[in-house]
Amino acid sequence: MAKINDLVKTADWKLEKHVPVIDCSDTVVSNKIFEVKVAIGKEIAHPNTSEHHISWISLYFQPDGEKTAYQVGHYEFTAHGASVQGPNTSAVYAHHGLSTWIKINKPGILFAVSLCNIHGLWQSSKEISLK
Ligand SMILES: [Fe+2]
Repeated sequence: MAKINDLVKTADWKLEKHVPVIDCSDTVVSNKIFEVKVAIGKEIAHPNTSEHHISWISLYFQPDGEKTAYQVGHYEFTAHGASVQGPNTSAVYAHHGLSTWIKINKPGILFAVSLCNIHGLWQSSKEISLK
């Protein structure tokens, strides 16, 4: 049977514009809120047009020793220049990046998954330790 994870791509974010880059501390204090940012196109800009854009980013956390990852948030970007005058004529574009705050009480792995409307699903991950 085909699996969706076979379609989720990853690469070196410095060479591939679709890879979500997770930016937060490597080590955090248990139960203390910390900021997590996710950016796409950090080194090579990804287009943001009506025809080609990032639709969403989902963030997950898998605590060490657990079999599943929990969704932390889902961030949709719905303005890509479309207006009643046609594609790429709107005054507003949603940029494909996010900033959020979380707390954890176990070490684990953050996963970011993103969707480009043309080039599909991309992911990255980052291990987080506790002090
Ligand atoms: Fe793309």
